[in-house]
Amino acid sequence: MTKRALITGITGQDGSYLAELLLQKGYEVHGLIRRASTFNTTRIDHLYVDAHNPDAKLFLHYGDLSDGARLVTLLAGIQPDEVYNLAAQSHVRVSFDEPEHTADTTGVGTVRLLEALRMSGVNARFYQASTSEMFGATPPPQGEDTPFYPRSPYGAAKVYSYWITKNYREAYGLFAVNGILFNHESPRRGETFVTRKITRAVAAIKAGKQNELYMGNLDAIRDWGYAAEYVEGMWRMLQVDEPEDFVLATGVGYTVKDFLQVAFDHAGLNWEDHVKFDDRYLRPTEVDALIGDPSKARAKLGWKTTVETPELARIMVDADIEILKNAGSHWVDSVDLDSWKN
Ligand code: NAP
Ligand code: GDD
Repeated sequence: MTKRALITGITGQDGSYLAELLLQKGYEVHGLIRRASTFNTTRIDHLYVDAHNPDAKLFLHYGDLSDGARLVTLLAGIQPDEVYNLAAQSHVRVSFDEPEHTADTTGVGTVRLLEALRMSGVNARFYQASTSEMFGATPPPQGEDTPFYPRSPYGAAKVYSYWITKNYREAYGLFAVNGILFNHESPRRGETFVTRKITRAVAAIKAGKQNELYMGNLDAIRDWGYAAEYVEGMWRMLQVDEPEDFVLATGVGYTVKDFLQVAFDHAGLNWEDHVKFDDRYLRPTEVDALIGDPSKARAKLGWKTTVETPELARIMVDADIEILKNAGSHWVDSVDLDSWKN
């Protein structure tokens, strides 16, 4: 029997890699997408086959985590074996500007989806995209038993989602798990997260299209892995016998400054000649250091990373140099993007 999966957030970085992985594994994949006035499927366009084609395995459905009734109807119609809840307002800095919206989608959206599962009577395994951001102020190394101390509206909303997922597991016997993922990046990363902001700027500076890069706190430490490897971990969490929560991380931390250094070096540039400080990129409360302990995932899922942060930075710089070459006049400089998008 072909397995069927529903992915919320399929148009995002992780959703696109997960869809790719599940299609390779022979799944029929259904994705929830938001209606937008412009196309928002660029990350998955390469996977899409016209639905009239009998070989089509990827199906997209309009919906939103703010619309509970729609989620019930969709689940009842699709009857998935696995549900991956990746949808969220996922930008930490933006969550300070839009705390209520973030709570509604990143927090309450999860219980809408869990409740929709219960109401539709669909017996699917459920994955919740939990995050290292929940650890916040608790110092590293952080593992499955580390206490949470969120430092942003985003982190607080994700803590709610973590606990409601655990509650549905205990209260209703759902196979529901939290993947507590540390930062993971790729050439498909959103342009305003720090790694992609840096690698796009390196490409633009190298091409002579930009000279300055405005940044916030360069001392923050993150544990950056390669997104394509993390979606394999998500899938493995739903294949084990008992539902359990897992941390996915590389286990090694680097500062934002380290990332800048590797990325600029790779293009033969000196970051100190280009990077300027702008306090608009500071957060009212910062998460100073996130470094994960992935030993449980290694032992029980056989999952581990192979791409370390410096190699990841080089992969992303090479990809952005290539993207810029092909973009021509459609390239949007980081300076223009960041001055209002964070
Ligand atoms: P992303 O690129 O920002 O993608 C977020 C996805 O959620 C997009 O498809 C977006 O749709 C969708 N979405 C947003 N609000 C929605 C709503 N109200 N209803 C339906 N869909 C909505 O995020 P990502 O990096 O792939 O991360 C995936 C998930 O993992 C997120 O929940 C994130 O918080 C979590 N996470 C990420 C990391 C990381 O380092 N990447 C680490 C830990 C946890 P549009 O394309 O239409 O905007
Ligand atoms: N975005 C951004 N822009 N961050 C900057 C900048 C800047 O100009 N300058 C410094 N930083 C610092 C931030 O203050 C933060 O400490 C660090 O770079 C990483 O920022 P982001 O790349 O925006 O990611 P994040 O760690 O806040 O959140 C990401 O990872 C979480 C997992 O830990 C997101 O993907 C979240 O959705 C995810 O849950």
